[in-house]
Amino acid sequence: MKSSISLRFVVIGASVAGLSCAYLLQQSGHEVLVLERSRRAENPDGGLKVPPNMARLLHLFPGTMEMLKEKATLCSGVYFLAGESSKLLGRMIFKEEIMSDLGSDFYIVAYSDFIAHLYNLCISSGVRIKHGFIAKNVVASSDSPPVVVSESGVQITADFVVGADGRKSITRQAIPSEEQESDDDLLEFHIPNGNKRATPKTELTPLLAANVTIPISLMKDDPQLAPLTRDDRFVVWTGNGSSVGTICCGGKFVLTYNTRPPGPNDRDLEWDDAAPASTFLERLKDYHPLVRKVARLAKSSHWTIQVPKDRSRFTNPQNNVVVIGDAAHTLPINATHSCSGAMEDAVTFGYLFSHLRSRNQVPLFLNGYNHIRGDRTKMSEELEFAGISLVSIPPGPQRDARDSALGMTLHLEGADDETLARVWGDYVRAFNYDAVDAVDEWYMNWAKPLHSAAHSAY
Ligand SMILES: Cc1cc2nc3c(=O)[nH]c(=O)nc-3n(C[C@H](O)[C@H](O)[C@H](O)COP(=O)(O)OP(=O)(O)OC[C@H]3O[C@@H](n4cnc5c(N)ncnc54)[C@H](O)[C@@H]3O)c2cc1C
Ligand SMILES: *[C@@H]1O[C@H](CO)[C@@H](O)[C@H](O)[C@H]1NC(C)=O
Ligand SMILES: *[C@@H]1O[C@H](CO)[C@@H](O)[C@H](O)[C@H]1NC(C)=O
Ligand SMILES: *[C@@H]1O[C@H](CO)[C@@H](O)[C@H](O)[C@H]1NC(C)=O
Repeated sequence: MKSSISLRFVVIGASVAGLSCAYLLQQSGHEVLVLERSRRAENPDGGLKVPPNMARLLHLFPGTMEMLKEKATLCSGVYFLAGESSKLLGRMIFKEEIMSDLGSDFYIVAYSDFIAHLYNLCISSGVRIKHGFIAKNVVASSDSPPVVVSESGVQITADFVVGADGRKSITRQAIPSEEQESDDDLLEFHIPNGNKRATPKTELTPLLAANVTIPISLMKDDPQLAPLTRDDRFVVWTGNGSSVGTICCGGKFVLTYNTRPPGPNDRDLEWDDAAPASTFLERLKDYHPLVRKVARLAKSSHWTIQVPKDRSRFTNPQNNVVVIGDAAHTLPINATHSCSGAMEDAVTFGYLFSHLRSRNQVPLFLNGYNHIRGDRTKMSEELEFAGISLVSIPPGPQRDARDSALGMTLHLEGADDETLARVWGDYVRAFNYDAVDAVDEWYMNWAKPLHSAAHSAY
């Protein structure tokens, strides 16, 4: 669809959220400039998870499904193993049981392949991309258009600014927080150089997460480890108050560790801190020797504390700045929906603004955006954080109950729909979401009637 008016958009950040949003806006007739901090040559490794709710949207981006079919791994399922014994507790096999009904598959694709594809789509549709631009702040007021200021003082004016600048978003500062956090609401963490860091208290508990990466070339010659490198599944090792997830992608084997709220010993950890691999190994004492054997091959580990924020407002009061992707929400990193959430945001915003007929509609559309994404984001965040605590339950009756529920999934052959829905209801609810349908529904209910009413008044 083509929007009836053309606005000048500046998008900050050329990653999943920024590039997909830029492409959709440009295709619908707007004029888009993307500002990206890094130089083009960077080629980070790592794998993106593309669950069905994201794969379903890729028809909006020509050639992406073909690229995935050629380059991505089709993920066969999630396997839950007992951390101590490696006993199989449960499994969700994606292809046969669920995916045919959902009409989309679950892929793992190299971050660099996915970004390169979006990048080329943007360029061929006329999006301009400026590299080496480090945005310092976004100045917004109601009587003049928003301005993006770079670290070197360059100013760029637009009709509208889209902040797709990731977890440490600077654009987010242009959007007042929902309740101003008072000092007594802050938890303090002490960091080694004597500074103090504070994070706000929230209802969902924060997570301490860490990852290590091992080149699979180091594992290939070991008969115990080699089978892991051929894995096309996610494996979750359930622990006592923690869990370890493993995934294999792009020549790398990655372990991600998650544990409950930071305790006194974790106060030394900064955001995105690098630490020796031994720090990671110490945490794995109770885990199966195979997990420890892989982890021992790592050179270093990365640590981060993630605080869920439960936001429902992504736009500023002047209605000319929005945040999308990791800049907007607090989905756990490397989780199932961290990338799909960013894509859903981008599609929701881009597709909404392809319906724009006049500037007067902008506040209404932004209201729609907050409404649509607020509900969905809350659901995905709860699901991800709850999922992580479920696989970390310490020994006891609650864990036994979890294990017997997981055990049901081992005997699902021929199970009826009702049983499947009971076992996998939450997963399916998250996978079954269609961001385009959500906009269509909102548009039919709100924007169209208002538009018709306004016209019939003349
Ligand atoms: C280099 C890189 C590699 C990644 N690899 C993986 C991966 O392999 N697997 C995975 O699950 N997730 C990965 N992620 C994270 C993943 O992309 C996000 O979790 C998720 O997809 C949401 O994406 P996003 O576009 O909202 O944010 P991000 O992907 O974090 O992108 C933010 C973008 O904004 C740019 N930016 C930030 N601040 C500024 C500024 N002040 N001025 C200008 N530009 C700015 C950044 O350089 C980046 O390109 C990666 C992110 C990056 C940046
Ligand atoms: C995990 O997330 C980090 C940061 O968001 C990213 O750099 C990394 O590549 C991701 N790893 C995987 C395997 O997804
Ligand atoms: C689980 O962890 C707790 C706290 O660290 C510990 O006290 C307990 O002994 C552990 N239980 C088992 C079975 O390892
Ligand atoms: C591990 O986490 C760090 C920090 O979040 C990130 O920079 C790094 O890319 C991650 N690596 C992998 C392979 O996940």
